[in-house]
Amino acid sequence: MFDNRIDFTGSVAVITGGSRGIGAGIAMALARAGARVIINGRDEAALAQVVCTIEKAGGSAYAIAGDVTSESNVQALRNEVERIFGSASLLVACAGGDGGPTPLIEENAAHWRAVLEVNLTSAFLTLRAFLPQMIEAKRGAIVTIASSAGRQISGSSAAYAAAKAGLLALTRQAAVEAAPHGVRINSIAPSAIVTDRLAVTPLSVRNQMAAAFPMRRLGEIEDVAQAALFLLNERSSWITGITLDVAGGRVML
Ligand SMILES: NC(=O)c1ccc[n+]([C@@H]2O[C@H](COP(=O)([O-])OP(=O)(O)OC[C@H]3O[C@@H](n4cnc5c(N)ncnc54)[C@H](OP(=O)(O)O)[C@@H]3O)[C@@H](O)[C@H]2O)c1
Repeated sequence: MFDNRIDFTGSVAVITGGSRGIGAGIAMALARAGARVIINGRDEAALAQVVCTIEKAGGSAYAIAGDVTSESNVQALRNEVERIFGSASLLVACAGGDGGPTPLIEENAAHWRAVLEVNLTSAFLTLRAFLPQMIEAKRGAIVTIASSAGRQISGSSAAYAAAKAGLLALTRQAAVEAAPHGVRINSIAPSAIVTDRLAVTPLSVRNQMAAAFPMRRLGEIEDVAQAALFLLNERSSWITGITLDVAGGRVML
């Protein structure tokens, strides 16, 4: 019979920001599809919980803790992946955070830099560490997790919007440089995904938020995870450098 399932059996996938939220959801979806996943974050207990959940469901997961805003930590992550798994052919740069809706006139340089570090520099360091080996192998697919805040006006801060817009530009530039070597790099720009933080927001507020989306609902982690699976899988072999808006119809560019 026909079998159209996406299958990542035999692939090794690294997911930064994999200790919770969207990154953990992508890790679980990849593991369900057969990939061996390596999750990164700073919170060791949270990482252990995701590994446990994946293993209980029959998948393969391994945690490597570390702060991805530090170049030496990212290199250590890459070295550890190489030592244990040989190499990774899939990478999801998901670590990030909005840092709060600080108005520009109240922004200070330290907070600005911190938001850029975690959302943009972390992705640069991660791509810089993992891309050479994918280029050498002439095989690989990468997804960066940006935000609709980097696509259009949103309620977030200028720092977050600038960082995510920068991440989209970084992704496109990296995609052009990597394409001749058979490596694809795409971005997902989610909007209002229900993670722990949004899950504790009062239902009335969530309903109000949902009403602003043409699809009349907020996004689920699985919506982003399925988009990541689509972009990472080899059937998308003619797709690189794009931004996939996972935004319930609210972003149409
Ligand atoms: N949720 C949304 O509505 C939404 C919308 C658009 C875009 N996004 C983007 O999607 C990504 C995931 O968001 P989320 O909502 O799932 O957020 P979350 O639940 O806050 O998760 C953030 C993840 O990033 C990791 N992280 C943060 N700083 C890190 C650092 N310096 N080093 C290593 N890991 C770090 C966290 O791990 P530790 O805490 O263990 O360090 C955690 O795994 C982010 O890039 C976010 O900007 C989210």
